[in-house]
Order: sequence, then structure tokens, then C-alpha cells
Amino acid sequence: MPTQPAPIKNPEVKFTQIFINNKWENSVSGKTFPTINPATAEKICDVQEGDKADVDKAVVAAKEAFKLGSPWRRMDASDRGRLLSKFADLLERDIAYIASLETVDNGKPYNAALGDMGLVIKCFRYYAGWADKNHGKTIPADGEYFCYTRHEPVGVCGQIIPWNYPMLMYSWKLAPCLCMGNVVVLKPAEQTPLTALYATSLLVEAGFPPGVVNVVPGYGPTAGAAISAHPGVDKVAFTGSTEVGQIVMQAAGATNLKRVTLELGGKSPNVVFPDVNIDEIVEYTNANAMTNMGQCCIAGSRTFVHADIYDEFVQKATSRAKRRTVGDPWTDVENGPQVDEEQFEKIMDLINSGKKEGAKLQCGGKRHGDKGYFIEPTVFSEVKDNMRIAREEIFGPVQSIFKFKTMDEVLERSNDTYYGLGAAVFTNDLNNALMYTQGVRAGTVWINCHEVFNAQAPFGGFKMSGIGRELGEYGLNQYTEVKNVVIKLPQKNS
Ligand code: NAI
Ligand code: MG
Repeated sequence: MPTQPAPIKNPEVKFTQIFINNKWENSVSGKTFPTINPATAEKICDVQEGDKADVDKAVVAAKEAFKLGSPWRRMDASDRGRLLSKFADLLERDIAYIASLETVDNGKPYNAALGDMGLVIKCFRYYAGWADKNHGKTIPADGEYFCYTRHEPVGVCGQIIPWNYPMLMYSWKLAPCLCMGNVVVLKPAEQTPLTALYATSLLVEAGFPPGVVNVVPGYGPTAGAAISAHPGVDKVAFTGSTEVGQIVMQAAGATNLKRVTLELGGKSPNVVFPDVNIDEIVEYTNANAMTNMGQCCIAGSRTFVHADIYDEFVQKATSRAKRRTVGDPWTDVENGPQVDEEQFEKIMDLINSGKKEGAKLQCGGKRHGDKGYFIEPTVFSEVKDNMRIAREEIFGPVQSIFKFKTMDEVLERSNDTYYGLGAAVFTNDLNNALMYTQGVRAGTVWINCHEVFNAQAPFGGFKMSGIGRELGEYGLNQYTEVKNVVIKLPQKNS
């Protein structure tokens, strides 16, 4: 096992500006916004606040970089792969610094930030390999013709990313997009802009030409809205709340029918049948609900446990949650703080609603410590399907445990939600596992495991959890336009 690189506890912030045409600029308006450390609630630094005027400049730069004959359009696909691969090497070189910056800006424990970086690097390497392999077909057509298809880039891609996995979402968006030769205007989340800005500086070192990637930090309703409504943007990819996903899609439709991919919220069921090893599954479902402080679109926020083992499971899940370590993200803890005060308040409001609506609070439910935005790992039992904690995305360290008796019942209740992002089923009975897998309406189903992600495999949602897929070949398709070329064949008459 390689040793973990040691953290840099006071990482110097090197980039706080807007990145256009491979240059750092101040905002047109002259405005800045603060980014805070959620473990202390103290300001880290001010960042240039992009808005519509900055997005306009970024789109001009991206369009220029996308012109036929530009260095980027003329670059061999294999060389694009080489640049992505070089970029992955640079991220790996600076892994301790970037993970440390993530811990400061997002609050996640350093070990978790390092874990994210492992997946980030793999994602860029995976798509580096695809760059010269995404090609078309030759098609024998009817009559005196044949067709061939060209796989082309979509063009200017607007990418709006969230704060829960800042670097991971940066990689899921950028890697397939650049692999196919697109150009980008990316907006990191206002809560966590710092790692995206630093990583972007490495794109220059890797050798990406000016204008290919442009990064505009700023707020959603201003900079984000300017991207999704921009007539010069050909596609928008968004990860965040379902509510904003709907706004983004409306704006995209109303302007130029830009292509839209959305990765939105979830209320993912974890179903536990009675034939399992309870201690092992308690561990899985605790992690599934509380990893990344529950700030996970795929969080297993509804644990359905079979009536035969319900009481024992609740008791063990409660003691596991009480043992979950919370505190200073530079130490070897499982949970750090929630990302900001707004999220903290939202989660506390939902916890209070659970208490009021009659769920049984088994443990937690309060602020942890007296500074920063820490919340105690919280378990509710006797949760009913109509309670707010059963229906709304909590995005906090809260496990809600429901009781079920039959397959039909648990399938119907699993699907009784607008969301359809993920599901997990725990059983040693193959038929139960496969029956559940067929019936549940979700983009990913885990059988006897949880939250396993691969750059090779698609990720995305059914229903209001999103549109399209990220990662793997499916993800690459979302950054590819298919052009059919029809050619007349010469004919021999005799
Ligand atoms: P959000 O959806 O408002 O923010 C996500 C991104 O969208 C950010 O970059 C933000 O600046 C941008 N944005 C916001 N309004 C926009 C607009 N009108 N046009 C274009 N872009 C816009 O999410 P927020 O407010 O940070 O969190 C609210 C809830 O959303 C969370 O409690 C959680 O339930 C959910 N969420 C889900 C995520 C996921 O991974 N699916 C990630 C973040 C939040
Ligand atoms: Mg918001």
C-alpha cells in the first residue's frame, strides 16, 4: 500500500480570479464574494464574482477556440488524450495540496478529500484513453449510396457544478467533454470555488490551448443563469438541486434548445432482507446515509428493514451512529462539518420536522460543538412514508429507518418518490435481489454493496433525479454530436 500524502494544513490560496483564454482576470463588475471554512465559519479569502458580462467574455473565448482550423480543432484526437493524461499526472503530483484546499473550502475530512482525488485522477485517465476511440460507423444505405458517421464535439459546453464533491464533479464534467474536443465555460459552486480554480491552472501547464476551458466563479442566479440562458452555449450540464435543474432546463429550452444533461437530487432506498448478516449491513447503511456528512445525491436516506429483524437492526444502527466520529477534518474522523449555514439550517429544520411528525429520534439531532456547522449523526426509527424526512432530500447525516414485510410492498414504497437516482438491496437470496433490481426505478442499483463508483460505468437518474448519464461510454455520448455523411457511389452499367 502506498503511504497517504500528508496534509498541508494551511494551504496557500493561489488563484481567486476568473479564468478566460488561459489568463486570470478580475470580474467586469469589480465585485468579489467570500468563501468560508465551514469547520470554523471563518472567511478563507475573497474570490472574483463572475456575472453575465464575464460569462459573455468566456463564451467569446470558447467560440474562438472552437473555430475550424484552431489549434484545438486541428489537434489529433490522440494528442487530446495525451493532454488529459498529462493533466491527470499533474493532479497526482499536487494531490496533497488540492485535497488540503478541498478540506479547507468544503470541510470534508482530509482522508475523504484524498479519496475523491483518487477517483478524479482515474476519471481523467479513463477519458484520456477514449479520446482516439470514439469514432463512427460506415453504413451501407439503400440505392447508390453509402453513409458514414462522424462523431463530432457538441461545441461550447456550459457546466454548472455543486459543492458536495467539488473536484469530483469537476472531473465528471470536464473529462468527457475535453476528450471529445468540446470547449467549456464552467462555473464552480459559490461555496467551494478554490479547488476548481487551482486545478484549472494545471490545464495550462498540461498544454491545453487558450479558450478551451474557461472558469467563471460566481453565484447561481447570476453567473449560472447566464450560462444556461446563453444563445452561444450549445449544451449545458448541471449537477445540483432538482429545483434549479428545472430552471436550467427551462432556460436552455427557451433560448436555443441547448442540449441538457442534469444530475439532480435523490431519496435512495436501501432495502435490508432478513437473511443478511445484520452487523455487516448496519455498517453499509450507516455509511450510505452519512458518507460526506450525508451531502450526497445518492445518499441512502431511506433504510427499509424487514419486520423480522427491525428492532435489532434499529438498536445496532443507533449504536453505530453514536460511534460515528465527528470533528476536526484534519484528524482521522468520519464526519466533518456541513458545507455552510444554509445547509445546516435546512437539515436542522428537517430533523425538527421528523420529531414533530412523530418519528422516533434514536440519537443525534443536535449541533455538534460550538463553532462551524457540525451536526451529530442522527437516526430516526418508526418513520412513515408521508413524513417530510421520508420525502425530501435532507443532505445531512440522517438515517431514517422504515419497516416492511413483503417484496411487493417494499418495491411500491421504494418507487413512491419523484426521485430515481440509486437503490441498494441487501440479501443472500438471488431471486429477491434480482426481483428488486427489476422493479426499482433508479439509475444505479447496488446489490450487497453501496456507493461504488467507476469512471467506466454510467451514473444518472430516472424520473426527477435527472436526464442523461455521466461517466463511461454513455457519458461520452452526451458530449458527442453524430453527423451522417451520405456519398453517392459510382455504378458500373454492364
Ligand atoms: P443549487 O442547485 O442551488 O446549486 C448547485 C449549483 O447550481 C451551484 O453551482 C449554484 O451556483 C448553481 N445555481 C443555483 N441557482 C442557479 C440558477 N438559477 N441557474 C443556474 N445555476 C444555478 O443547490 P444548493 O442551493 O447549493 O443546495 C440546495 C439543495 O440542493 C441541497 O440541500 C441538496 O438537497 C441539493 N443538492 C444536490 C446536489 C447533488 O449532488 N445532486 C448537489 C448540491 C445540492
Ligand atoms: Mg441554491
